[in-house]
Amino acid sequence: MSDYLPINSSSLRTDTKIGCDVYLLMKITTDSRYVLYCKGETVFENDKREKLIEENISRLFIKKEDQRKYYEYLESNFQYIVSDTRIPIDERTQIVHGAATNLVKDLFIDPRSENINRTKTFAYNMVDFILKEGNAVHSLLKIAIHEYHTYTHSVSVAAIGTLFAKDLGLKGNDLKRFCTGILLHDIGKTKISTDILNKKGKLTKEEFAKIREHPELGVEILKEAGIDFKDEYIITLQHHENYDGSGYPHGIKKEEILTCGKIARIIDVYDALTANRSYAEAKRPFAALVEMKNNMPNCFDEELFKKFIRFLGPYDPRGKRRKDDKLHS
Ligand SMILES: [Fe+2]
Repeated sequence: MSDYLPINSSSLRTDTKIGCDVYLLMKITTDSRYVLYCKGETVFENDKREKLIEENISRLFIKKEDQRKYYEYLESNFQYIVSDTRIPIDERTQIVHGAATNLVKDLFIDPRSENINRTKTFAYNMVDFILKEGNAVHSLLKIAIHEYHTYTHSVSVAAIGTLFAKDLGLKGNDLKRFCTGILLHDIGKTKISTDILNKKGKLTKEEFAKIREHPELGVEILKEAGIDFKDEYIITLQHHENYDGSGYPHGIKKEEILTCGKIARIIDVYDALTANRSYAEAKRPFAALVEMKNNMPNCFDEELFKKFIRFLGPYDPRGKRRKDDKLHS
C-alpha cells in the first residue's frame, strides 16, 4: 500500500506554510516517483500555484503520517479555503468534510475544553459556509448520505441534521448552536468503557444502565468545559428522549421535549441505523426511514418526522425501494 495520500492542490493557500511536505507524482520513463514539491516549513508561493495550474495538476500528495498536520492546516485556513470561489464547490465540500472528520476524531479521543471549543468554532464556520453557498447543501448531502465510516459518519449525520434544521427554518446563531450540539451530542460516551460501547453480544442490565447515563455525562463534560452553551445542552441531554415518554434519561414526553431535542432524536436514530455497527449491517437511507416509521412509530414527533422524510427523500438515488415500501400512508 502507498505511504502517500492524495490531496487537492486547490486546498493550498498561497503565502501560507502548509506544515507538512507536499509531493508531486512524476512519471519517469516507466516508473512513478513521488518528488518533493513544497517543503512544509516553506511558504507556498504564488508561482508554485501558478505552475500547477499551467501544468493542469490538481492532485498532490502528502505522506500518510502527515495527515493530521494537513487537516490542522485545513482547519486553520478553513474560512479562506471554503470561500475561495475558484475552487469547485464539490472540492470545498470535501475539504469541509475531511477537516470536520479529523476534528471529531480528536474530540472523542480527548474531549477537553480545547477540542470542544474547536468544535464550536468549526460548526459556526461550517454553518456560514452552508448559508453562503446555496449549492453546498446538495454537495454536502451527496457526500453525507454515502458515508459509512465511524467518524466520517458522525460528521455526515451532523451535516444532515444541520441541513434539515435549516430546512425547518432555523437561522443564524440558532442554526450554529444546533450544528455544534449535533457534533457534540454523544460526547458523554467518552466516559463509558469501550468494552461496553463495542460489546458484540447482548448488554447486561448494568451495562445498559451505564449507556443510558451518556446524555447526562455529556452535559457534565460541556459544563466542565465552561463554555456558554444553550441548545447544545438540550441536544446532548434530550437526544434519547422519545415523544411517547419511553426514552431516557428522564422519560419526558411530547412538548416537554424541546424542538431541538426532538430533531436530535430523529437524527440520532437515523445515525444509528445508517452506520456500520458491530451487530448489524448499515441500512441505506430509505430503508432506515422505513424502519423508523414501522418499528418506532411513537418515538418521534410525527410532523417533524414527516418533514424529515420529505427532506431526505430526493437524496437517495442509489437506495433500493421495494414495491411494498411505503412511507406516506
Ligand atoms: Fe446518544
